[in-house]
Amino acid sequence: MPDKKIAAYNIEDLRRLAQIRVPKGIFEFVDRGSEDEVALRNNRSAFERIKMVPNTLIDVSKRTQAINLFGHDIKMPIAIAPTGVAGLMWYQGELALAKAAAAAGIPFTLATGSMTAMETIAAEAPGRLWFQLYMWPDRSLSHALVERARVAGFEALVVTVDGVVPGNREYNLRNGFTMPFSYSRRNIVDVLRHPRWMFSVLGRYMANDGLPRYENYPTELKNRITAAPVGRGMLRNDSLTWEDLRELRRRWPHTLIVKGIMTPADALRALECGADSIVVSNHGGRNLDSTRAPIDVLPTIADSVRERMTVLMDSGVRRGSDVVKALALGAKAVLVGRPTLYGTAVNGEAGAAHAIGIFREEIDRMMAHMGCRSVAELDRQRVWAPHLQSGRPGALPGTVFDELVHHVADQAVEYPEI
Ligand SMILES: Cc1cc2nc3c(=O)[nH]c(=O)nc-3n(C[C@H](O)[C@H](O)[C@H](O)COP(=O)(O)O)c2cc1C
Repeated sequence: MPDKKIAAYNIEDLRRLAQIRVPKGIFEFVDRGSEDEVALRNNRSAFERIKMVPNTLIDVSKRTQAINLFGHDIKMPIAIAPTGVAGLMWYQGELALAKAAAAAGIPFTLATGSMTAMETIAAEAPGRLWFQLYMWPDRSLSHALVERARVAGFEALVVTVDGVVPGNREYNLRNGFTMPFSYSRRNIVDVLRHPRWMFSVLGRYMANDGLPRYENYPTELKNRITAAPVGRGMLRNDSLTWEDLRELRRRWPHTLIVKGIMTPADALRALECGADSIVVSNHGGRNLDSTRAPIDVLPTIADSVRERMTVLMDSGVRRGSDVVKALALGAKAVLVGRPTLYGTAVNGEAGAAHAIGIFREEIDRMMAHMGCRSVAELDRQRVWAPHLQSGRPGALPGTVFDELVHHVADQAVEYPEI
């Protein structure tokens, strides 16, 4: 049940409250996209182009949105996406988010660039914990981090592959919010204009251990967020190949998820390397601008891997109806990034729980309208999206007849055995 004390009926309300609370530079770092923000806008409009198909006079008095994901029962088809700056939304924001996720019975992904150590998260917010990995050119550092995550008890490794170079975010340069963080007249004034954030977030860090650090970086790279990391070249990500993924598969004994896949060919390669799952994602429109929306490429990708791996998606999910659309189009669950960050900025754990609660209520309402008792019943007949017709097997049905045609076509197509 969303928290009645937080005046937010939906995620956009939470976004506006977060905007008031957090300094502009930090808010824009979270909220905005890259370059001309074409991908960011399109992530939303792509969801809006897809329409729901209601089904009536079905007894839906007993509904559940629980699913089984990687052998575990989770209470909603949502996981919290990795986001490096949760610790700037709230004092120890990652912990707040992880606790909210554990209480809601959904997975939480801790980002490599977090400000809370993975061991602290595992000890204080035990739940379904995933660790997100940005690989470094010095593979030994990355492999040591993977081993650390295994020892800490994380049950899935999420390898992000779409951060080959940083996204071009010009507004961050303009407002001075860069990493490493540097002091300028503009951002000092920005912080002073947000006294509540200054005292309750920055002030609490200063009173305890000083400015936050990247607590999961290896000792030689661990630094306060104001300091340029020693050997910046060590953080570059542009020499990685599929062989690195294969090596991670050899080292990581649990669930392996590849995040940032946007084509069937790459999905099949990830499968071939032994990944259990992919996240169809354009990083929330933060990296390569002008990519297609993940929700638009999802059906073709889901068709290409079929039941052989678990398909997740993210980027632009703001409503329960978006979750339902993604599930109908082939995702097993979705990740949310900004929505729960807004919630965390508004009121820490309670705010993150509020965001999750909004999704829970909206998904439940959608399922009722669509005549679904469980999310397993969400299939392509429940959505209308003729623009996503690809003519390929499993393509979206415009009518039941189309579906029959595709079903027949399906039998004739051979997929490579991998
Ligand atoms: C502020 C911010 C920081 C992020 N940091 C990371 C990160 O460290 N690693 C990663 O794989 N993805 C990161 N992401 C991308 C998210 O994991 C996710 O793909 C994206 O937020 C989904 O889009 P949405 O925000 O529209 O839900 C970040 C996203 C945001 C908004």
